[in-house]
Amino acid sequence: MTLSEKVGQTNQPANVDAVGDAETLRLGLIGSSLYASGPTAGNIKDRGLMLSTIEAVQRIAVEESRLGIPLLFARDVIHGHRTIFPIPLGLAAAWDEDLVERAARMAADEAAANGIAWTFAPMIDISEDPRWGRVAESFGEAPALASRLGAAAVRGFQESASSLASCAKHYVGYGLVRGGRDYDSVSVGENTLRNLHLRPFRAAVEAGCAAVMAAFVDVDGVPMHANRRLLREILKQEWGFDGVVVSDWRGIGELVEHGVAADLREAAAQAIRAGIDIDMVSGAYAAHLAELVESGEVDAELLDDAVRRILRMKLRRGVFEQPYPPRSTDRAPTSASRTLARLAATSSFVLLSNRDVLPLNPSTRSRVLLTGPFVDNGEALLGTWTLDGRGEDVVTPATAFTERLDNLTVDDGRLSDRTLKLGRQADVIISLLGEHPSRSGEASSISKLDLPVGQLDGVRQLAALGKPLIVVLFTGRPLDIGDLLEHAGAVLLAWHPGIEAGPALADAILGKVPPRGRLPMTFPRSVGHLPSSSHQRPTGRPLEARGDVPSGGYIDALAQPRLPFGFGLSYTTFRYGAIRLSANEMPLVGGSIRISVDVTNTGPRPGREVVQLYLRDLVADVTRPLRQLADWRALDLEAGSRGTATFVVTPDDLGYYDRTMTYRVDPGEAEAIVGANAAQGVTARFSLKEEAR
Ligand code: BGC
Repeated sequence: MTLSEKVGQTNQPANVDAVGDAETLRLGLIGSSLYASGPTAGNIKDRGLMLSTIEAVQRIAVEESRLGIPLLFARDVIHGHRTIFPIPLGLAAAWDEDLVERAARMAADEAAANGIAWTFAPMIDISEDPRWGRVAESFGEAPALASRLGAAAVRGFQESASSLASCAKHYVGYGLVRGGRDYDSVSVGENTLRNLHLRPFRAAVEAGCAAVMAAFVDVDGVPMHANRRLLREILKQEWGFDGVVVSDWRGIGELVEHGVAADLREAAAQAIRAGIDIDMVSGAYAAHLAELVESGEVDAELLDDAVRRILRMKLRRGVFEQPYPPRSTDRAPTSASRTLARLAATSSFVLLSNRDVLPLNPSTRSRVLLTGPFVDNGEALLGTWTLDGRGEDVVTPATAFTERLDNLTVDDGRLSDRTLKLGRQADVIISLLGEHPSRSGEASSISKLDLPVGQLDGVRQLAALGKPLIVVLFTGRPLDIGDLLEHAGAVLLAWHPGIEAGPALADAILGKVPPRGRLPMTFPRSVGHLPSSSHQRPTGRPLEARGDVPSGGYIDALAQPRLPFGFGLSYTTFRYGAIRLSANEMPLVGGSIRISVDVTNTGPRPGREVVQLYLRDLVADVTRPLRQLADWRALDLEAGSRGTATFVVTPDDLGYYDRTMTYRVDPGEAEAIVGANAAQGVTARFSLKEEAR
């Protein structure tokens, strides 16, 4: 390859087309393209156009360039392509790897039919601050959950006949932006990165993800796009990642705005040294890399390494054998894809409160009022990052409930005098509220976590009518729900559920599929409590009640979250038995312990309990979380029946990085806590023992 052909492989402009870019393609100066979207580029909504463009562009690259190297075409396929599933944070609430994998596979199938070969997903940033709009795209705050769901998504995207290359993003620490403000800076030490934020990326790499995307942010003063330590040393050298590191949108160029490079040329030099292989959109590599190599300022081996990675990715994706998109037409959702979307939606719902209002008796003749801004608005039920989803594909709650209830009144829109009048005539009120998807996602951070203006007051007015009141909450993030739980008879958290929103909601509310999701992020008591995630580390002065201070941490408020991580109710109740350990000691090398707890369904209905295992290392080289999610088991239990959740713990479950950034597992005491959420549980201790010599 000539120097300029090599640089061409690293160049990823957006929305390449066969007319304007023909000559550049012939010269081999473009390696990949993204058909872009989001706040940074115009939408391409016309998939027919996209498919024919991809085909024509590829023909030039393959048939008219000297080397005939095909391009890779990328797009943000985040939670479904045409068949839109719940937002990732909602999918995470199902705590179900198989479901995430199947949804990713379905998305890959549909996107591949549109000529896409590469998706910029999964997003596995540990998300602790709900002000940050991008929490909607994430799998939440717990490394164990995000790691396992992230790896499942990678498998789903990549491992099927019509697969997509997947890209774990955004490496790393993006979830810690100051004040939850998108793109703001990040101050975090390497130890916290290793023990929390890097874990899901390690899991994605081990699952074989083809690419990793650098985050927009700086970490402790070093922008990720120039961060040699985190990209080249840890990701590539220490972990042995042999895939591609792609910049985020214009991320290399933004080194100039970050104030660490004087111009694009310097930015290009810093980025290639740091380990960024592909320049998405900034043009810095295309303009300067050849000259930097020729002058000796950038080692030619760095460019060769980047090109090798890119070609390896193309080989692995099979684009040399099959460069052209399939000659298929646009894929509308099918009954199979809808079945999966509906299962995903019902599995994502989290029951936050219920005073015997739910499930509604399906045989009831009672008059039901369905009201609120989400009643019949398809677009609003899709969620953020749905480039190819269509509002008209959504079966709305209005449609689904009309099919199922004889005596239904639909009142679409905000609360009005008419709503109150209809409420007075109804026997049951179902109010669908929350935040529109445009309030979450990229560049959509908020400073207050309250429900949108007027909604909580509306709930109070409806509650004052004295009828059973069910509130369904649509949101892309944990909200400060104030006293919502006190006013409503039941509150069901539905996130943004996707195209089967209506049928899934009807299934849950009418009791066909009882809600079984669990919170993947803490619901804080207020904005002032942020961050308030579950992996609190022990301090010298614990956060507990002392004297007249109700709870340490604040003198004016309880420190505990409003709803803890892992929380979620069922239409039944569960009782936990004692915790049993197969042994009290675990050998440090090759050892394991079985931990089991019996759970009994003590209520009148079947239900799923998600039994959660948290671990704590009592004495370590660095402070370790008071409890950290290690594993979970879903038990489906009939009324009155008992099941056993059994976990196998190995020393690795207590491994961590120490003061010297070395991975280790310590001998000594550890604690296992098994419970229904991060704020409760039954506890037992065991110890890790060095083998006798
Ligand atoms: C986002 C990425 C996305 C990229 C390409 C950026 O603005 O941060 O998550 O993959 O755009 O659309």
